[in-house]
Amino acid sequence: MSLDKLLQSQGFGTRRECQSIIAGGAVSVGGEPVAYHDAAFDPEGLEFAVSGEPWSYRARLYIALDKPAGYECSRKPSHHPGVMTLLPPQFLARDVQAVGRLDHDTTGLLLLSDDGAFIHALSSPKRHVPKVYVATTADPVTDELLTQLRHGVKLHDEPKPLTAEVRQLDTHSLEVVVEQGKYHQVKRMLAAAGNHCAALRRTAIGGLTLAALGLAEGKWCYLEPAQVAQLRA
Ligand code: URA
Repeated sequence: MSLDKLLQSQGFGTRRECQSIIAGGAVSVGGEPVAYHDAAFDPEGLEFAVSGEPWSYRARLYIALDKPAGYECSRKPSHHPGVMTLLPPQFLARDVQAVGRLDHDTTGLLLLSDDGAFIHALSSPKRHVPKVYVATTADPVTDELLTQLRHGVKLHDEPKPLTAEVRQLDTHSLEVVVEQGKYHQVKRMLAAAGNHCAALRRTAIGGLTLAALGLAEGKWCYLEPAQVAQLRA
């Protein structure tokens, strides 16, 4: 692949813009400066640098972010900054999108990708991908609350009651596992069961846990191919 096409595919701008970045001497490949935009490389596993910043060629992006509170997942945020502002601008240029959404005040594990098939597979209601949340409750957790959530609570716009696997963690916190991704699902389920969600954090999607990723809040990482394969399975 020619160097200008390669940079374009990685989100560095239009073909023209990439040509001028290369002509300006900002690009090196495998440590060697390359100033010819038609120099050709095998992109697979290619290490390159732009203005001294190292990059690896990635045909598709699979990203995990520990989302802080106060950010919207929408690509066109209206009231708060968007999560894309926490990622390199090259990712936005590659049309990276959140896999499902977290509310602006929900924190925790958010996946993002530019692979439409991956996004679709993980968001499809037919795939029962468990999503694990830690909910802090306004009122104490009671046995009655746990029983109601396990047996199912009716939300006004859902034809059938929705159930969750739940485990009490503390007087005011519980782990909630849901397989769907309905609008404000966990908050609405807690409210329907007579409590109120004071804070919500997603700790895992499928077998992928924030703890294993070791991310700090607001930080992101690339997913390893094995982690992507496990999420797809
Ligand atoms: N359930 C909610 O209520 N909000 C979220 O952000 C995620 C799940």
